[in-house]
Amino acid sequence: MTTLAVRDAGRALAEGHLVAFPTETVFGLGADATNPAAVARIFAVKGRPSDHPLIVHVSALERVGELVDHVPPYAEALAREYWPGPVTLILQRSSTVPDAVTGGQSSVGVRVPSHPIALDLLREFDKHGGRGVAAPSANRFGRVSPTSADAVRDELGGLLGPDDVVLDGSPSAVGIESTIVDCTGPAPAILRPGAITAAMVEAATGLTLGEPASMMRVSGSLPSHYAPEARVVLDEKPRAGDGLIALRHHETPPGVVRLAEPATAEEYARQLYAALRAADDRGLVRVVAFTPGEQGIAVAIRDRLERAAH
Ligand code: TXA
Ligand code: MG
Repeated sequence: MTTLAVRDAGRALAEGHLVAFPTETVFGLGADATNPAAVARIFAVKGRPSDHPLIVHVSALERVGELVDHVPPYAEALAREYWPGPVTLILQRSSTVPDAVTGGQSSVGVRVPSHPIALDLLREFDKHGGRGVAAPSANRFGRVSPTSADAVRDELGGLLGPDDVVLDGSPSAVGIESTIVDCTGPAPAILRPGAITAAMVEAATGLTLGEPASMMRVSGSLPSHYAPEARVVLDEKPRAGDGLIALRHHETPPGVVRLAEPATAEEYARQLYAALRAADDRGLVRVVAFTPGEQGIAVAIRDRLERAAH
C-alpha cells in the first residue's frame, strides 16, 4: 500500500468515481456524498434499492457539522468516546446531504472509521474540498460483507469501471458492520447491534436506551441479509459434508468441514464473513453455525447469523 495509491483514490472520489476502501468493520464502496450521480452508481453496482440510505464517512467529528442540523449532547459524548471507531450515529441531516444518500429521509448516518487507510483516504478527500464519503458495505445487495480487499474484488471486480479504485489494506479487525445508534430522539436507540454494545452506549451517554424515534429503513434490518449461497442453519448438529463455524471448544465431527474455530467472540466476528465466503468457494450446500453466547459482541454476531439463516 503506497501513499500514492491513497492520493490517487482521493482524486478519484473528487472526480466522481467509486473507491472501495478498508474500514475496521467491513470494506466500504465509497463515493463523494455530495455528488448524486456518483452516489447513484453505488446503488447500481450493489444492486441496492435506491431508497435505502447510505452512511457518510468523515475524517473527524469536527467534519460532521456541515452534514447535520443538530448534534445532541449525548451523541457528541458517544462520538468523543468511540470515534474513530465502529459506531454510526443517525442525526438530523442538513441540506448539504442530497436525497440520493438518505433515500429522502430527514436523517443521515455518519461515522469516523478507524482503519488507517480509511482515515488517510478521508483526509486526502478533505484536501479536495470533500464533505464526506457515502459508503455502504462493498457487497452486492443482501450478500455477505467483504472483510478483505480480495473479497471486494471477488464481489464487485467485474462491476467497477476503469476509473474506479479498490484500495488494499489490512483485513477488517472488527469484521462485522458498525453499531447504528439513532440519535434523533431524546435518548439513543440501537438500530443495528455491533462491536459497540448497548452497555457501552449507555455508559458513554449516561442514558438508558430508548426506542427508535421514527420508522427508518435499515436494509441491514431486513429479515434476510448477509447471506451466502450456502444455506445457514444455527445450533444444529452438523452432518458429514456440512461446513461448521463454532468456537474452538466445539469439536469437528467426522466429514464436517471446519470453516472457523475462533477462540473468542471477538475473533468469531473477525472470521465470520470470510468463513461464509469460504463455504461458497468450496461449494458447500449447508453451513452450521454455533452462536457464541449472549454477551458483548456475541449479540451482534447472533443478529447477523439469524439474518444469514433466514
Ligand atoms: O460498518 C459499517 O457501517 C459499514 C462500513 C463500510 O462503514 N457500512 C455499512 O453500510 O454497513 P451499509 O449501507 O451496508 O449499512 C448501513 C445501514 C443500512 O442498513 C442503512 O439502511 C442504515 O445503515 N442507515 C443509513 N442511513 C440511515 C438513516 N438515516 N436512518 C436509518 N438507517 C440508516
Ligand atoms: Mg451492507
